[in-house]
Amino acid sequence: MSGQFRLAQISDTHIRTDDAGAAAGQLKRAMEQARDYRADVILLTGDLVNDEREDEYAALAEAIENPPAPLYLMPGNHDERTLLRSRFPQHAYLPREGPLHFTIEQFPVRIVALDDVVPGETHGLLRRSGAEWLESTLSAERTRPTLIALHHPPFLTHDLLFDTIGLLDAEEFANVVSRHRQVLRVVCGHHHRVAVGQAAHAPVIVAPSTSWTYGLAMDDGQRIAPRTSERPGWMLHAWTPTGGFASHFMGL
Ligand SMILES: [Fe+2]
Repeated sequence: MSGQFRLAQISDTHIRTDDAGAAAGQLKRAMEQARDYRADVILLTGDLVNDEREDEYAALAEAIENPPAPLYLMPGNHDERTLLRSRFPQHAYLPREGPLHFTIEQFPVRIVALDDVVPGETHGLLRRSGAEWLESTLSAERTRPTLIALHHPPFLTHDLLFDTIGLLDAEEFANVVSRHRQVLRVVCGHHHRVAVGQAAHAPVIVAPSTSWTYGLAMDDGQRIAPRTSERPGWMLHAWTPTGGFASHFMGL
């Protein structure tokens, strides 16, 4: 397969039912923009809903009824795997049991979606099982350009709060990535602000939330993660065979 490829990454939508449809409206606006930019695929990288509630997943289902491109759902720490599976049976790529790891194979860039959620916890973990899945999944296709998506940032952001609730075994994640030069990008969410880091050789892009943004708390005594006036948004990851990846913040 050749040709250009555009991935719309929409993250931390936090759909709720007590906000007069505000979060769902933001998601719909992001999808409209993704259509305008002719995205090939839309990937929602977790915290789909705000409070792990069935009615919130129903509101999400309504919001994504007519996506402008194939749309895939990943869990975050605000999601509940069983509810997610049962509410979206037509999303057959979601495994019937265990972590919701999956791959998307039909595009020029292979997408490897890693479920790093720990039920009941805010932080993420790869664990040995996740590392083994990632290693074997990447080993199956060593030459195709690959993007890994997960919910929690796998690097230190130097934010006093978020570094305690990121991917706690990020070193192991980087170890796996280091063995796979075909991994060109890692994308995640969780921090509700745009940031760039690294996992082994691969740039890591943190997408903003479509709902609200957090500030940065980097110094002792600073108030932790106040909300800021920075714009919510989403990320457009564009790729061509000769130019590689460019990742753009798209404000809402
Ligand atoms: Fe979130």
